[in-house]
Amino acid sequence: MKIEYVETTSDLMTRINIHDAYGARDIDKWMLDVLPLEQDMAILDVGCGAGKQCFSYLAHLSGKAEIIGGDVSEELLAKAQEENQKLGNRVTFQPLNFNVPFLFPDNTFDLVSCSFAIYYAEDIPFTIKEMHRVLKPDGTLFTTGPMPENKQMFYEIIKEATGKHIPPMPGSSRYASEILDAVKATFSKTKIEVFENPLTFPSVEPFIAYTRASLSEDRLLWNAFFQTKEDFETVMDEITQVAQKWFERDGKLVMTKVVGGILATK
Ligand SMILES: C[S@@+](CC[C@H](N)C(=O)[O-])C[C@H]1O[C@@H](n2cnc3c(N)ncnc32)[C@H](O)[C@@H]1O
Repeated sequence: MKIEYVETTSDLMTRINIHDAYGARDIDKWMLDVLPLEQDMAILDVGCGAGKQCFSYLAHLSGKAEIIGGDVSEELLAKAQEENQKLGNRVTFQPLNFNVPFLFPDNTFDLVSCSFAIYYAEDIPFTIKEMHRVLKPDGTLFTTGPMPENKQMFYEIIKEATGKHIPPMPGSSRYASEILDAVKATFSKTKIEVFENPLTFPSVEPFIAYTRASLSEDRLLWNAFFQTKEDFETVMDEITQVAQKWFERDGKLVMTKVVGGILATK
């Protein structure tokens, strides 16, 4: 499946900052609890974006690990490298497209992680097999992605605002089914850990900022909603009005992120 999706640095950073500001829980801390991290490990983070997970591993392991972050976006890799320089270049950031064979030999890494990216792969079994190939025997794969019940309130507001059917999202529609099945078929052991994080917005404005950062670059996925640039602003106005109505009724807006962590052993 070809997925027309390009993440921009500013949209990704906006969503990360909103999670930090309004979320009740810290997903990086949860990952560190769930993952079997040890010093001197070789770690590959696939779809590393601006390096969020790489820097979290680096700090947790006090810099004692070989960490590589790979991504297809030059812009996000440059952003990651900017931060890396400030931290003494302890992580290696390099181009990696998970739709083609990885440029690493078999049995190279103790841990391969992939946060909020695997569902953009064109051929999920191919990408999962590449992750399996580059892992050492007994190595761990960890992926995160949205569960079907993720951010229901976000979709309900959009549905009420537009009266339109919400298109299936590549993440929540496939993560706990097709992607989990592909991991189970390839790895010897698989388990799923669920992370729930309610984001409580004390006003409409940060919810709208989150919605813009989610919808603006995903416009091709939401093609029934946005045919032109003007449609985007019209839909955003409609969403703002409904969000305002919900806010006046409930005194707050609560959007719960429901993330599945797939943890698998080679
Ligand atoms: C939602 S972002 C997540 C980034 C990062 N892991 C995080 O959690 O902050 C999705 C990432 O997948 C990357 N991506 C999309 N298609 C890719 C591909 N074909 N190969 C590698 N990375 C890809 C995007 O560039 C983006 O950095």
